[in-house]
Amino acid sequence: MRPSQVFRADLLADKVVVVTGGGSGIGRAIVEECAALGARVAIGARKIERLEATAAALAAEGVECYHAALDIRDDDAVAAWVDAVHAHFGRIDVLVNNAGGQFPSPAIDIRPKGWRAVIDTNLNGTWYVSQAAARHMVKQGGGRIINIVANMWRGFPGMAHTGAARAGVVNLTKTLALEWAKHHVLVNAVAPGIIESTGLETYPTEVREQIIPEMNKHVPLKRLGRVEDVAWAVAYLAGPGGDYVTGETFCVDGGQAHWGTPFPI
Ligand SMILES: NC(=O)c1ccc[n+]([C@@H]2O[C@H](COP(=O)([O-])OP(=O)(O)OC[C@H]3O[C@@H](n4cnc5c(N)ncnc54)[C@H](OP(=O)(O)O)[C@@H]3O)[C@@H](O)[C@H]2O)c1
Repeated sequence: MRPSQVFRADLLADKVVVVTGGGSGIGRAIVEECAALGARVAIGARKIERLEATAAALAAEGVECYHAALDIRDDDAVAAWVDAVHAHFGRIDVLVNNAGGQFPSPAIDIRPKGWRAVIDTNLNGTWYVSQAAARHMVKQGGGRIINIVANMWRGFPGMAHTGAARAGVVNLTKTLALEWAKHHVLVNAVAPGIIESTGLETYPTEVREQIIPEMNKHVPLKRLGRVEDVAWAVAYLAGPGGDYVTGETFCVDGGQAHWGTPFPI
């Protein structure tokens, strides 16, 4: 964990920040940035090893990190996990719905099981965690929810399932922002472009070797994103900079949403 390159060190002092998928990649960068700003953190994902490694690294820096296995597709397990986080800290100030995943495939070849898995994770899972956390936020008088989505604004060839799920989350972000404004629960999204992160390692060899190395050419800023680029946007929305922002989606994509898609059609 290093000091924030952007924000003052006590920006999130004593806030409890919950990050799903917080043991790897973008999620871990968000956890480290929030911890560097004084937050206490909770992380959950299916593989316990990466959660333990992240929690141990934070503990070595004196940061309290609650961690426990979580499958966001299981609504009962989500409710129990969120309640356990709340019981541990006594409050939940910020939820970052970062957990997600998909696989590239032409739409014509996606099987029902694969389609359901991606929708269950990226849309339904985001909803389950949001509702469970919001129930605590409403009781405590407010909170922040930040949904990590993706750059699917002009269609998402090769990623029909996740494009549909993320578009659903963007609309959900607006609806929840309106419904929960009276409870001072602010709901926003961050849409990363292509970020050099562990997520890219999960793609098939052909995509990793032939498509990803060429992707920077399709980005107006001519580079892929860093995990910190996304973490800074999340910290901004979690802190006082985000006090008057709700229902918005903040693109962190080097201008890519305005120009082209890096995936071949
Ligand atoms: N990298 C990019 O270019 C990019 C661009 C746009 C959006 N995103 C999105 O940003 C988020 C983070 O991506 P990343 O690149 O950091 O990839 P990543 O390391 O693969 O992060 C995904 C995280 O979600 C967790 N997860 C997946 N399914 C889960 C489930 N059912 N329940 C609980 N946790 C689950 C994973 O942990 P377990 O496998 O242990 O559960 C992992 O920690 C993802 O939602 C991704 O789709 C990434």
